[in-house]
Amino acid sequence: MDIYGHYHHSLIQIQKLMMDRLESLNQQARDAGHAKLYEHLASRIKSNDSMIEKCQRKGYPVNTESALRRCHDAIGFRIICNFIDDIPRNLQALKNADWCTIVKEKDYITHAKPNGYRSYHVILDLTTPYEDVAGHTPGHYYVEIQLRTIAMDSWASLEHEMKYKHNIKDPERIGRELKKCANQLASCDIQMQTIRQLIHENDKE
Ligand code: GTP
Ligand code: MG
Repeated sequence: MDIYGHYHHSLIQIQKLMMDRLESLNQQARDAGHAKLYEHLASRIKSNDSMIEKCQRKGYPVNTESALRRCHDAIGFRIICNFIDDIPRNLQALKNADWCTIVKEKDYITHAKPNGYRSYHVILDLTTPYEDVAGHTPGHYYVEIQLRTIAMDSWASLEHEMKYKHNIKDPERIGRELKKCANQLASCDIQMQTIRQLIHENDKE
């Protein structure tokens, strides 16, 4: 089954549009003489199989309406930053942008998950030139954005990898080590931010 149906093509176009818009926000920051907003971007369209699995897991009917309206992460972006303070700068840029509305925010940085996961999640509602699943043009599409530092991102990919290994002898031990690592990375992020601040103050003198 093709859960996105003929909307799959629109998702790919919207992913490109979104990429251009985020790149242009970064360029605007540079043009205004500010530091870059982020280090790099990553994006994906959730695979057909993962979307079907998600709808089943959430108890939604397995159809295009569930994939595009009830689930909000068919299109996903990661904004990966050098410093923690870049995350609120990106959030502000998104709030100021007239081409999207933030409909949901989850702050797993102030409130890290018990396993140590840190990231700031937002769901955007995007007005696009493409027809949406309700039959409206311009159409509304959701995009999930995960904002994180490079340290948070490398931790999340290691932890994600562990989730899919089922032959692990001592998962509790690995969980504890991962959590310790997450806390150390979080304090490194703060130290890095302090260093950046010191360099800035130095430059101003
Ligand atoms: P999903 O049903 O999985 O989409 O979760 P949710 O709707 O409760 O949303 P949440 O914001 O908690 O998580 C969405 C996404 O964030 C996941 O699909 C992952 O990409 C990422 N994420 C959340 N928690 C973790 C975690 O503990 N570890 C890692 N590696 N990624 C996570
Ligand atoms: Mg998800």
